[in-house]
Parts: sequence; structure tokens; C-alpha cells
Amino acid sequence: MKVAVVGATGLVGTKMLQVLTERNFPVTELIPVASAKSVGKEITFKSKQYKIVSVEDAIKLKPDVAIFSAGGSTSLEQAPLFAAAGTTVIDNSSAWRMDPTKKLVVPEVNADVLTAEDKIIANPNCSTIQMVVALKPLHDRYKIKRVVVSTYQSVTGTGVKAVEQLFNERKGIEGVMAYPYTIDLNVIPQIDVFTANGYTKEEMKMILETQKIMGDDSIKVTATTVRIPVMGGHSESVNIEFAEDFDLAEVRSILENAPGIIVTDDTANLKYPMPLDAHDKDEVFVGRIRRDESQPNTLNCWIVSDNLRKGAATNAVQIAEYLASKNLIGQAVEV
Ligand SMILES: NC(=O)c1ccc[n+]([C@@H]2O[C@H](COP(=O)([O-])OP(=O)(O)OC[C@H]3O[C@@H](n4cnc5c(N)ncnc54)[C@H](OP(=O)(O)O)[C@@H]3O)[C@@H](O)[C@H]2O)c1
Repeated sequence: MKVAVVGATGLVGTKMLQVLTERNFPVTELIPVASAKSVGKEITFKSKQYKIVSVEDAIKLKPDVAIFSAGGSTSLEQAPLFAAAGTTVIDNSSAWRMDPTKKLVVPEVNADVLTAEDKIIANPNCSTIQMVVALKPLHDRYKIKRVVVSTYQSVTGTGVKAVEQLFNERKGIEGVMAYPYTIDLNVIPQIDVFTANGYTKEEMKMILETQKIMGDDSIKVTATTVRIPVMGGHSESVNIEFAEDFDLAEVRSILENAPGIIVTDDTANLKYPMPLDAHDKDEVFVGRIRRDESQPNTLNCWIVSDNLRKGAATNAVQIAEYLASKNLIGQAVEV
């Protein structure tokens, strides 16, 4: 399969190349794409050197699949051009996620919504992906009424500039600022811009995307999203109120048997998920599973996952794998 990776030099794009290699996705020709400043530079994929090309040149090469991780405006402008050329686009930005004509997919939750007509498919927000992987099997059993989530998000979620800011600050060097404040030895209760209701865009993404992926607008979600000076992945404190009472042992067993989840929950031996352990892993880790004793039918848990993997690259490649397995890739269509 001819595969274009748009944003191949970025944090997500670099991880995408790694995940495509590891999962042995059948790439017969790689088309790495980045901004004008990177065109002509070389990258290595499966021990071969490839030259970065422009978006325009990549469209002419008519890839079967284009995986975009190059920001919302690039996706908005360029994804329809790829789709019109017959390419199936899987987009990591927020550009298409809430478009009612586009599918928003986490394969463990709703891969079955995909058809051959879907030429631009949205990959959800990283914090949302890891949360819905754990919510879905519990919703199927006990029906979720309300979710209260607070996030502790890694700087890798912001891209290369943010990682540079953190390490510069650690070395006492003045340099690029991805955030309005110092991030080292700090916590910033703002991810993305503020919206009129006082929530940030990241918080609204978690609310709206959860309902869309789960296919259930009755699930109420409220979120506080926070940036912390961590590299390995995102962590979330999640409080879940169900429509009916649950059995704690059954909750554990449901999560242990759900696809893509590893339960790490042994407090007697101080075992719980941490970003250091989730780093460079594909799974969603769940721990601190316990009853919320302040009200009925309510559970507390702690969910950790590598945002560059399940939160971005792995989820996108899993979508491509699903499409390939169902023969849903190919043929030019109107978009
Ligand atoms: N980081 C995460 O955890 C995460 C998770 C889910 C989704 N995402 C989304 O993925 C996207 C990339 O994030 P990132 O963290 O990888 O950012 P990043 O490290 O800043 O990388 C951005 C990439 O986009 C390329 N690019 C920028 N403008 C372009 C243009 N006009 N045409 C073609 N390529 C262009 C850059 O190329 P140059 O090197 O040439 O500038 C670079 O390869 C964003 O939309 C982000 O919201 C990120």
C-alpha cells in the first residue's frame, strides 16, 4: 500500500513511522510529507532513506492512505484534495472530528461505523481516546450516566516545541515558549484556548468527542484538563456514575478482559499506572479502581496511556489496519 505520512517530521509523525514499522503495516511505498522548510530533507523508514515531499507532490502520487498529523489548518485545506484523488485520509487534528459527515473512531469502541465511503476519518483527541477505551465496556454493562474527569497531560501532547521548552527550562536556557508560562516545576490548568463558557477547547473536546464516539448523547461529561511537566503520557482521574449499581470485582474483570486495556491495580504492592511505565506502550492502563463512597453507583479510577501512541499514532494505524482488513480502502469518490 502507498502510504503518505503528512507531518512526518513531527512528534506524532515520527511515532507514526515507528508504529507502522512495528506493526508491519503493508507499506509498499512511503511518502513522507512536511512543511516547505523540510522538503528535500531525508528520513529513514525500515532502514531505507526517503526524501520529504510537499503536500502538492504527495497528492500527485495518489497514495492509498494518508495519515495526517500536521495541524488543523493543513488538514482542513489538504485532506479533501487527497480524498478527491481517491486517498483515504486518517486525520489526527481536531479539524474534522465534530463534522457530522465524518466518523470519529477508536477501533476498540466503534470501528464498525466505518464504510468504503469514508474518505476522511477523524482520530479523536488523545485524552478522549484513552478514556473511552475504558468507558465503553463499562457502559455496555452498567450504562454510564455521568463522567467527571481531570487530566494530567504530558508536554509531548503539544509537539516538539513544548518538549524543547521543558528541557530548555530544565537547563536554564531561554528559548521557545509553547506555553504562556514556565512548565518545568509547574502545572498549567489550561490546554488549548478558552471558549465562551469558561472551559478550554480541550475540555470541550473531551465532552463532545466522548458522546460522539460512544454514540450516546445522554452521557454527561465534565472535564478539567491540565498540563504537567511529564514526558511519558497522559494520566486521568475519572469518576463514573452508572445508571445501576455495580460489582467491583466484575468491574475489574470487565476491564481486564476488554481489548487494549491492562489493569494495574494492586495497592498492597503499590502498583498503579504511571506515565513512566506507560511510555512507548500501546495499551491503556487502568488502576486505583474503587467505589466513590460519597454517592451511589459511582466508581473512581485512574487511566494512563502514551498520548503519542494510543492517543495518536497507534490509534490511527489501527484504523488503517481495520480498513485494510475489511477492504475499505481505494476508489475515488465525491467528498
Ligand atoms: N502530540 C500529541 O499527543 C497529539 C495527539 C493527537 C493528535 N495530535 C495532533 O497531531 C498534529 C501534530 O502534532 P505534533 O505533536 O506531532 O506536532 P509537531 O511536533 O509540532 O509536528 C508538526 C508536523 O506538521 C508538519 N507541518 C506543519 N505545517 C505543515 C504544512 N503546512 N504542510 C505539511 N506539513 C506541515 C511539520 O513539518 P515541519 O517539521 O516541516 O515543520 C511537522 O512534521 C496536531 O494536529 C496535533 O493536534 C497530537
